[in-house]
Amino acid sequence: MEREQVSIYQSHQISKNNSFLWGVATSAFQLEGSPYADWSTWDGILNANPKITNHYELYKEDIKLIKNLGVNAYRFSIEWSRIQPNEDSWNRDVVKHYQKIILLLLENNITPMITIHHFTHPVWFITKYPWHKKKSIEKFTQYVERLIDSIDGVSYWITFNEPYLLILGGYIEGCIPPGYKDLNLALRALKNIFTCHGIVYDMLHKKNKNSMVSIAHNMAVFAPWVRFNPLDRVLTKIAKRFYNHSVIDGFMDGKIRLPLPFRKEIEIEVPIKEKLDFFGINYYTRVHMRFNPFKKLFVEFRHRDIDGHGLTDMGWEIYPRGLKKVLQYASRLNVPLIITENGIATNDDSKKIKYIKAHVDIIESAISEGIDVRGYFYWSLIDNYEWLRGLDARFGLYKVDFRTYRRIPTKAASFYSYIIKSRTFNSMQLSYNKQDLTVNS
Ligand code: FCB
Repeated sequence: MEREQVSIYQSHQISKNNSFLWGVATSAFQLEGSPYADWSTWDGILNANPKITNHYELYKEDIKLIKNLGVNAYRFSIEWSRIQPNEDSWNRDVVKHYQKIILLLLENNITPMITIHHFTHPVWFITKYPWHKKKSIEKFTQYVERLIDSIDGVSYWITFNEPYLLILGGYIEGCIPPGYKDLNLALRALKNIFTCHGIVYDMLHKKNKNSMVSIAHNMAVFAPWVRFNPLDRVLTKIAKRFYNHSVIDGFMDGKIRLPLPFRKEIEIEVPIKEKLDFFGINYYTRVHMRFNPFKKLFVEFRHRDIDGHGLTDMGWEIYPRGLKKVLQYASRLNVPLIITENGIATNDDSKKIKYIKAHVDIIESAISEGIDVRGYFYWSLIDNYEWLRGLDARFGLYKVDFRTYRRIPTKAASFYSYIIKSRTFNSMQLSYNKQDLTVNS
């Protein structure tokens, strides 16, 4: 029954002009790990907790948590390395597993938003075909073609989560897989990744012309460390253009222009012009820029608690007003905007509550100013593995005991439910017709 039933659900996920998506976001690897993923060998911390939250087995329980929150959307990713642990393998059971999750969400009136690539890769891919090699395009898109052919019921897709962070971490800083520190390789990798976005965008639209496809772009607000220091100011300007605006330009005219401190701007042609149905924004913080002649590219990044909102356990400044700024920057794209991630790492429930409230207030005010915001996804449903931090960054609405896998609600969970019920821009909830739910069952 599954395929037919799913397509009935799908036709009800009309999304171009209706309800605000209230959601929570996760990624597969951060919740369930994978023995075949590059990160498993990269970070030894996972040896002690290879299943992390054990979401792979406990997904039904977690979907109940999602349901109880009262959200109508859930963003999550599919772990490529579980589906293709080896180059020539294809694990159908794993695909079925993710399909079951999708069905369960739909049965509960929760719109799935799938992230195809969220930082991790099968070991074979990143070793043989790292992103700077042309062949990466073929390998990745072959996988995606087969994946989307086997998966039904999804209208919202994120092709890549934070491609810039993937490049900056994996090719410039070398702090995440594949661990290079090479600008030339970074630029080639960037081009290949965005080329994949363009190809996958077309594939998804071929399958379903109503597909809603984007990337999830990490946006930040930048400010000079010393307000009147001309060098700090120059760096701030460059950071803004590099990190926030160059991607937007890429989607508008097919060219990513990367300004670099004291160097010529780099221009990369990318086949992504207008290949965007909404724009996914991950927003967390503001970053202060300081000129430092001893650092790479003469830049140092710092977080400061200037407005008195405090820092999170990640050391990030809490800066809700910044969300308005990034929404304003992104609105020139002229597509709906969705906050695909926003959240705080803290053990302090009241700090988490304040964080959520302050950011939702900003969304409300942005909408009242005419900015087309269509959704908000809190990061994250439950505590999970944080890439460069391990298991102690508590982003979850539900706390996780990583020894017993127990989920414990924080006060922020009930607060988020309350916010969802009480905000007026929630007026047109997605609804499925009872009759549809019973067809084919
Ligand atoms: C974002 C990542 C997400 C999570 C949050 C805290 O940059 O997309 O996976 O780690 O940060």
